[in-house]
Amino acid sequence: MYKICIKNIINGLFKNQNITIRGWVKTRRDSKLGISFLSINDGSCIDNLQVVIKNNISNYNEILKLTTGCSVQISGLVIKSLKEKQNYEMQAKSVLIIGLVDNPRNYPISAKSHSLEYLRQVSHLRIRTNIISAVTRIRHEVFTAVHNFMNKNNFIWVTTPIITSLDTEGYSTMFSVSANTKKFFSKKSFLTVSGQLNIESYACALSKVYTFGPVFRAEKSNTSRHLAEFWMVEPEIAFANLQDIILLAENMLKYIFKHVLNNRMKDIEFCVKYNNNKNLINRLGNFINNGFIHISYNEAIGILKKYKNKFNKQIVWGCDFSLEHENYLTNEYFKNIVAITNYPKSIKAFYMRVNDDNKTVAAMDIIAQDVGEVIGGSQREDRLNKLDLCLKEKNLSIKNYWWYRDLRKYGTVPHSGFGIGLERLILYITGMHNIRDVIPFPRSMYDINF
Ligand code: 4AD
Ligand code: MG
Repeated sequence: MYKICIKNIINGLFKNQNITIRGWVKTRRDSKLGISFLSINDGSCIDNLQVVIKNNISNYNEILKLTTGCSVQISGLVIKSLKEKQNYEMQAKSVLIIGLVDNPRNYPISAKSHSLEYLRQVSHLRIRTNIISAVTRIRHEVFTAVHNFMNKNNFIWVTTPIITSLDTEGYSTMFSVSANTKKFFSKKSFLTVSGQLNIESYACALSKVYTFGPVFRAEKSNTSRHLAEFWMVEPEIAFANLQDIILLAENMLKYIFKHVLNNRMKDIEFCVKYNNNKNLINRLGNFINNGFIHISYNEAIGILKKYKNKFNKQIVWGCDFSLEHENYLTNEYFKNIVAITNYPKSIKAFYMRVNDDNKTVAAMDIIAQDVGEVIGGSQREDRLNKLDLCLKEKNLSIKNYWWYRDLRKYGTVPHSGFGIGLERLILYITGMHNIRDVIPFPRSMYDINF
C-alpha cells in the first residue's frame, strides 16, 4: 500500500494497472455529459492526479457533494492522459468518501489563494496548500542531503544534549529549564543554543563528527530571519584549519543544492513562480559551478566603506555587519554567496582561535543573497593559555568550562567546525521571505500558538 503514491503514478510506475489511491480533493469539475473530474493530491509531490468519474458509478450523487479538502479512496485504472500536461490520469471504478469537510464555505484552506500571514494563523492546516507542502518536501530533501553528504565523507553523527548547563556562545540568550522537583539538577540548566562544545569533545577522538538537532535562542529579534527554535547541523573536524572547513562548507552546500534540484525540481519551479523569483534556479546552478567568493573581513570593510552612502548604519573597523551590508555584498557587489573570514576578536565568541595579529580570530561567516548569514564557524582556540585569556576577556567563568579546557590539556589538536542554520538555508533555496514559513510550527517571540 505504501508504494502507491501520486508521485509514482506520475512517474509511470502504474501504467495500465488497476490500483487504489488515497488522498484529498483539491478541486472538482462536472461536465454536462455526466462526467466529473477530481484533482487529487496526496502530498507525495506537487502534482495532482486527475480522476475521471462517470455518472454510472453507484454513489455518483455523493461525488457531486465533494469539495476541496474532502478525503477519498479511489480505485481505478491508470492510463496515459491524452492531454500533454498531465501524463497520467485515473478512470475511477469506485470512490469511497472517507471524510467530508464540515461547512465548506468556512473551510480555512478553501481553493482560493491565501496570504502567508493568514496561513500562519492556521499552521495545523496550511500544509494542505501547494506552497507550504512544496517547501516541506524541499526541507526534507535538505535534511536528507545533509546526512547523505556526511555519511559519504565518513563523518560520524553524534547526538549532543538539548539540556545543558553551559552557554556555548557566551551571550546568555538561553531559555531556562525548570522541573517540578526543586533543584532537579544541582545547577542552573538551559536549552542549548548550539551543540558545538560537546561535539568538539567527540571530534577530539573520532576526528570527523557532526551534530544535528534543534537549538533554542531567546533572542529578542522578532525579524523574518530569526526563530526561537531552529535546526542546526554542526560538523567538527580534528586536525583541520579554517581553510579546510571553508572547503567543507562549499562542498556541502554544492551537494545539498544538487540533491534538491535533482529530486524536487517541480517543487523548486513552483517556488520560482510563487515568489516571482526567476533567478532562483540560476543562482543555485551558479553556486554549484563556481562555489563562493572568499574575502576577509578587512576586504569587506574596504568595499563597504567605498559605498558608505548606501547604508543607514555606518561602517567602521570593529563593527558587525547588518543585513543591509550583507545584502549589498551578496546581491549587488558579488551576486553570489560570500565567505567572510578573520573577524575582529571583540565581536566573536570566546572559542575562536586568535590570529597572530591578536586583533582578529580565525572565524568565517557565510552570507547569502537576501538571507544574510547562513553559516557561522571557526577554527577553535586549541591553546589553553589563549583560551583562558579569551574566557577572561569575555567575563566567562573559567571554572564552568573545566571539561572544555580539559580537551586542551590532554592531547590538544587544531580543530575547526561550523553550524548551518537549516531554515536560513531553506529560505535561500526556496526564495521564501519569512523564516516562519519554512518550519512546520514556528516558534518566535510572542508566537507559540500551536
Ligand atoms: O553563527 P551561530 O551563532 O554559530 C554557532 O552557533 C556556532 N556554535 C556553530 C559552530 O561553529 N558549530 O549560528 C549558526 C547559524 C547561523 O549562521 C544562522 O544561519 C543560524 O545558525 N541562526 C539562526 N537561524 C534562525 N534563527 C535564529 N535566531 C538564528 N541564529 C542563528
Ligand atoms: Mg554567527
